[in-house]
Amino acid sequence: MFEELEQVKEKCLTCKKCSLHKTRTNVVFSGGIPNNKIMLIGEAPGYYEDKKGEPFVGKAGQLLDKIFDCVNLSRQKDVYICNTIKCRPPENRDPLPDEKSACREYLDKQIEILKPKIILICGRVALNSMLPEEGGITKVRGKWFDGPYESKMMPIFHPSYLLRNDSREKGSPKWLMWQDIKEVKKAYDTLLNK
Ligand code: URA
Ligand code: SF4
Repeated sequence: MFEELEQVKEKCLTCKKCSLHKTRTNVVFSGGIPNNKIMLIGEAPGYYEDKKGEPFVGKAGQLLDKIFDCVNLSRQKDVYICNTIKCRPPENRDPLPDEKSACREYLDKQIEILKPKIILICGRVALNSMLPEEGGITKVRGKWFDGPYESKMMPIFHPSYLLRNDSREKGSPKWLMWQDIKEVKKAYDTLLNK
């Protein structure tokens, strides 16, 4: 299944289309399980992701796994995970516009080949790539948007934002994330029952 995705990955692993290829250790193409139901798009590989060649393996990734686990989703069995760019920006700075546009073909192919019904847009940088005309993440998180190939896209907070905001009180970022992930699970279960 999804053999075409393997070809895109092969090409991406040796990509030199932007200057990030000079400083990367590994290209981070994707993680989780290729499927046509749910994809999460994060920002960019960080230190640990660059070392390992896998997305979301640092602290933020561990929190992401916990959040999925709360609603019985996991990257081992349900979720495909990727980022807006596939190589780590030095010092984890925001990806530059020319890096994002150079790398966009890979993200577009991932979406085109998998055609996920649900796309989670994780954090400010991914929001800017996928819904550039929308306002800040705080305003749009938890809302459904029409996405490519008849998908539904929902912006959610980035787990590293949650790591900086520890409160679990009603209305806090963690509480909002809990509402959002429950809503995502509901949509996912509806898909499975179709
Ligand atoms: N943050 C991201 O947005 N993506 C990763 O892969 C790791 C941390
Ligand atoms: Fe290629 Fe993307 Fe890496 Fe730039 S970030 S070298 S475009 S894979």
